[in-house]
Amino acid sequence: MAYTVPKLKDFSQAALDKAVDQAESALKDESAEIRSEADWKAFRDRWMARKNGVLTQINDLWLKSAPKEGKRAVGQRVNELKQFVEQEVSKAREFVDGAATALRAGSEQIDITLPGIRRRLGAEHQVIKTMNEIVSVFRNLGYSVEEGPEIDTDYYNFEALNFPPNHPARDTQDTLFVAGQESKPLRDRLLLRTHTSPVQIRTMEKMKPPVRVVCPGKVHRNDAPDATHSPIFHQIEGLAVDTNITLCDLKGTLDHAMKALFGSEVKTRFFPSFFPFTEPSADVSISCIFCGGKGYRDGSRCPNCKASGWIELLGCGMVDPNVYGFVDYDPKKVSGFAFGMGVERIAILKYGVDDIQLFFQGDVRFLEQFG
Ligand code: DAH
Repeated sequence: MAYTVPKLKDFSQAALDKAVDQAESALKDESAEIRSEADWKAFRDRWMARKNGVLTQINDLWLKSAPKEGKRAVGQRVNELKQFVEQEVSKAREFVDGAATALRAGSEQIDITLPGIRRRLGAEHQVIKTMNEIVSVFRNLGYSVEEGPEIDTDYYNFEALNFPPNHPARDTQDTLFVAGQESKPLRDRLLLRTHTSPVQIRTMEKMKPPVRVVCPGKVHRNDAPDATHSPIFHQIEGLAVDTNITLCDLKGTLDHAMKALFGSEVKTRFFPSFFPFTEPSADVSISCIFCGGKGYRDGSRCPNCKASGWIELLGCGMVDPNVYGFVDYDPKKVSGFAFGMGVERIAILKYGVDDIQLFFQGDVRFLEQFG
């Protein structure tokens, strides 16, 4: 039965004690029933609401109607009771809050014995993998690694590499220039490097001979994408400058590198070519790895080498003495060789891929095949 505030006829100590006891035990009983925040609010309002709350009623029914001489004693008891009610209400609040937190903690509990979320590990991209492989072949020969900026100046990409001012390679047909550079002198204009050869210049500016470096990196050309072209691709540049470096060293080094990359049965062939920064210059072919250099396979023409038995792979040469002039090397004292190779081209051969675009489309089904 819900507690109702009794009228007091008798204001004796005993009657007061009884009435207060009754009120307190009703308060405790009701408090023990609280299960939720809504219960607590109802409880608080029932006891403490100004209008018609139990305390207000007690005030009206006990204090106001007490005889004059008893008012003091009644007032004291009512005050004590009021404090008790406030205490119980705030205790009940703490209980509700604690229960809510416990409930929340319960639903958010983490079972630390469960296995964690396993992220799928990606595989090393074939281009990067090939690049690392090539770099490690040269590391084993004592070369170190240098890198340069992908946005470079006309000076590093062309001028210091002995490209004459009107060389066709400077034409916008091949080179992507950064816009709005017309007010600068030609040599300071920015462009997306078209090859890794500018790193040769940057390396020689910073180091004195002997130099033996490879420079892997991304390069850009204004080419429409198709099965064999991509506006972005990767190259690895090589440079060795020392006293008495000869064409024999170049041939021996590249022959070794090609055998390390494609197998010891691979042969190399050098034939004359032209690059502004090397003299003499050569293109290097390897014997076709698909037909063993025979030009035919299973009784028909080998499509990979177009039946020639050779696959053209890289450019190289002896560093042109003019280049030394740009970097304060003395061409009478030093000599050296350089080479540059396309990473995708080598990856295509190694992994039997028939379209360079596959490297850049990020299709997991393609990439996973090489995990
Ligand atoms: N930079 C040349 C290119 O992009 C490749 C190259 C050829 C680099 C001969 C060299 C070199 O260092 O000696 O086609």
